[in-house]
Amino acid sequence: MATYHVPRYDYPSQFGPLDELLPRIGDLLLNGDYVLGRPVRDFEESLAGYLGVPHVVGTNSGTDALVLALDALGIGPGDEVITVSNTFHATAMAIVRVGALPVLVDCRPDDYLIDLSQVDQVVTERTKALVIVHMFGRAVDMDAAVRTAERHGLLLVEDCAQAIGALSCGTPVGSRSSAGCWSFAPSKNLAAAGDAGAISVSDPVLAANLRRLRHFGQVKQNYHEVIGYNSRLDSVQALVLSHKLAQVDGWNLRRREIAGIYRSSLRDLPVSFQDEGSPGEHVYHLFQMRSEHRDGLINFLQEHGTDAVVRYPLPLHLQEAFQDLNYAPGDFPVSEDLARTTLCLPLHPSLRQDQIDSVTDAVHEFFSEMS
Ligand SMILES: Cc1ncc(COP(=O)(O)O)c(C=O)c1O
Repeated sequence: MATYHVPRYDYPSQFGPLDELLPRIGDLLLNGDYVLGRPVRDFEESLAGYLGVPHVVGTNSGTDALVLALDALGIGPGDEVITVSNTFHATAMAIVRVGALPVLVDCRPDDYLIDLSQVDQVVTERTKALVIVHMFGRAVDMDAAVRTAERHGLLLVEDCAQAIGALSCGTPVGSRSSAGCWSFAPSKNLAAAGDAGAISVSDPVLAANLRRLRHFGQVKQNYHEVIGYNSRLDSVQALVLSHKLAQVDGWNLRRREIAGIYRSSLRDLPVSFQDEGSPGEHVYHLFQMRSEHRDGLINFLQEHGTDAVVRYPLPLHLQEAFQDLNYAPGDFPVSEDLARTTLCLPLHPSLRQDQIDSVTDAVHEFFSEMS
C-alpha cells in the first residue's frame, strides 16, 4: 500500500490519550455486559440528547439502520421508494433488501444533493417513501424534503451516514423525518472502531418496534413476536462512540476551517466545489472538488503524496448490482458528470497546516504545469 504524506484518514488521533477509554473497556470485558448492555443505553441516550430526538436505537451498521428502518415502517414487496442516484450503494441496497423497488432521481449540480423537484415526476400509486441522503456531510433542505413527502403522502427517511452534526433549517439532520439512519463506520465523522450504526426516531411505537426487530424480533428472551434480525450495537463500540461524541462538534468545526482554506486557496483555479449552504449545513465528511481534468489531477496528487480519491466513480444506476432497475447511461446526467469530474481532497480534523499546504501547492502545481 502506498504511503502518503497527506493521508485520507488518521484514526488514532481521534482517541487522544487512552487513559479514560481503556479502563471502561477493561471493566466491560470483566463484567460481561456485552449485549445491549449499559454502554449501549448510555450512548443511545447521549446521541438522542445531541440530536434533540426522543429515541435512538443502536444497530450494528448504517446499512442495517436503513434496512431496519424501512422494515419497521412497513415497506416491502410491491412498494416503490424514491431515492437519489448520487449516493453510496447501501442506500438503494437497503430498499432492495426489504423487497421494495428503488426509484432514482438525479442530484443537483450545485450542492450535489437530491433534486427534490424531480420527485413529482416519478411518484406512482405504489410509492411509499422518500429516502434523502445528506451527501458528503451537506444537509438536504429539510423544509423542502418534508413538504415534498407531505405533498405525496410519503414516509420520509434520512440517510444521515455522512452528516453527523450537520444542521438543516436550524435543526440537526436526523431529527425531522420518520427515521434518521446513522453509520459510525471508521471513516465517518463520528466513528466506532469497527461497524456501528443507529436510528433516530420520534415515534415511541416505532422505537419499540426497532428495538424488537434488531434483537431477533423478541421482547423477552425466546419469545419472538416478529421475524427479526441480529443487528445490535455492540457494547464495546458504544463505549468508543460515547467517548468521542462530545468531540464531534469541535472536529466538525476544524473540518469546516480546512474546507475554507482549500476553497480560498484554490478559488482562482479552474475547479469548483460542492455548495456549502448556510453556516452549519456542511460538516465536510468529504471535501469534493470538481475539475474537467480530474483524472490527470488525481494521478498527479497521488504521485505527490496526497491520498486523493473519487467518491463515487460509478453512479448507482450504472452499477452492475442494479442492472435489473433498467437504467441507462444518460438517465441521470448530473450524477454521471459528478462521477466523471469530482475528486476528494484529504480532510480530517488532525490535518496539519503543512499537509494542507502540501495539498494546495500540488493542485496549483498541476494547473501551472498544464498551462
Ligand atoms: C450514504 C451512506 N449510506 C449508508 C452507509 C452504510 O453505512 P455502514 O457502512 O455503516 O453500513 C454509508 C457508509 O458506508 C454511507 O456513506
